[in-house]
Amino acid sequence: MEKLVVNSGNQLLGDVDISGAKNAALPLLASSILAEGEYCFSNVPDLLDIKTMLTLLEGLCISSKFKGKDIIIKNDGQDGQDDKSHMVAYDLVKKMRASILVLGPLLAKTKKAKISFPGGCAIGERPIDQHVKALIAMGARIDVKHGYIEANCDYLKGCDINFDMITVTGTENIVMASVLAKGETVIYNAAQEPEVVDLCNLLRKMGAQIEGDGSNTIRVKGVEGLEPASYRVMGDRIEASTFLCALAAAGGDIILRNAPAGSMSVVIEKLLETGLEIHVLDNNTIRARKGIAVKSADIVTQPYPGFPTDMQAQFMAVMSSAAGVSVITEGIFENRFMHVAELKRMGADIVLKDHSAIVKGVRNLTGTDVVCTDLRAGAGLVVAALLAEGRSNIHSIYHIERGYDSFDEKLRLLGADIKKVESE
Ligand code: EPU
Repeated sequence: MEKLVVNSGNQLLGDVDISGAKNAALPLLASSILAEGEYCFSNVPDLLDIKTMLTLLEGLCISSKFKGKDIIIKNDGQDGQDDKSHMVAYDLVKKMRASILVLGPLLAKTKKAKISFPGGCAIGERPIDQHVKALIAMGARIDVKHGYIEANCDYLKGCDINFDMITVTGTENIVMASVLAKGETVIYNAAQEPEVVDLCNLLRKMGAQIEGDGSNTIRVKGVEGLEPASYRVMGDRIEASTFLCALAAAGGDIILRNAPAGSMSVVIEKLLETGLEIHVLDNNTIRARKGIAVKSADIVTQPYPGFPTDMQAQFMAVMSSAAGVSVITEGIFENRFMHVAELKRMGADIVLKDHSAIVKGVRNLTGTDVVCTDLRAGAGLVVAALLAEGRSNIHSIYHIERGYDSFDEKLRLLGADIKKVESE
């Protein structure tokens, strides 16, 4: 097991390259199930979750290889293969809940799928009832047996889907299911996340007929067949926003390259409110500088275009030593406050009340040993360590490696005193 050792005190200075977005790349890779042939994906981040998705696809008879930094995916067709080529086992789903993203495309293309039922995780119960309800409305027969979702259909038919709540992977699953369905599918209360739009852009390149992505109503007209395509994954708005929080913690002057500035407005506005200087130089480049001490600001996490839940922990870390009191309300997941106990170990003054954390900025956090409980909580602890007095040891960093490509290396290049070492 490895840990990160962070000594505070260094400012962040220079340029950082933002990687491709994990949450865009995962559904993009899953959509290679929909058409036989060869795909080339560029700007795919080098992450544990991406490796898990490639292993999962391998099990479905879809191979991958690296060509330089690109990933070439080859789908030789699952038809005529044995039942295993429609199945995703527990060991993969337990590593990564987003494995459920293959349910929609598998059903659409091969008419059957057997996927281990995802359990809850550190941030909440995270049911998938909306995915299942929509697929049943499209004509799928779904059973849950021995911990597996067993789904099959004669064909999927287009229909109106009304999601009871906004779900990102639910929307992606149903878009992928409907591109090959008979007739038109209209998804109401759809997720508007930029990663959904990125998926629809690839699917359109493959020949799908989709309109309305980026709004709350997506219309998909099913087509007979799709062709493979090449695609560049969008930049990671959460990674880019995390670097802005790291800057707010450590101080300095940085330029983010390949950052999807247009999809970061709400985070940028919030950080401007705290006193950070941020200039969007063009669609992909952001310059940020910390001039004055950070002031407190309140946030409520919401589906896009609201403040992202995936930035809540990092923002809270910054607020824990800001001037004033900040109220941070989690509006997406019921249990996404596991980092609070760790921040308190570093001296933060935080009280939890229902779905909110009341964060009273303290003069100084102090470095100590802390444990990552999930990916974004881990990123939040790194941000906290950049501002805490002295040394922090951050444990269970495999969570961070699921979603941040070369995080410690990028911070080191900006001047942070951070290194990865074997835990004793
Ligand atoms: N929900 C249901 N039933 C469903 C689906 C969702 O009750 O069938 C609830 C969830 O429990 C949650 C809310 O609806 O309370 C929203 O969940 P959503 O389905 O949107 O989350 P997700 O699709 O499982 C994606 C990201 C998460 C991100 C959330 C919210 C991927 C692979 N994952 O998850 O990313 O936090 O959307 O934006 O895209 C991360 O990267 O660290 C991460 C957790």
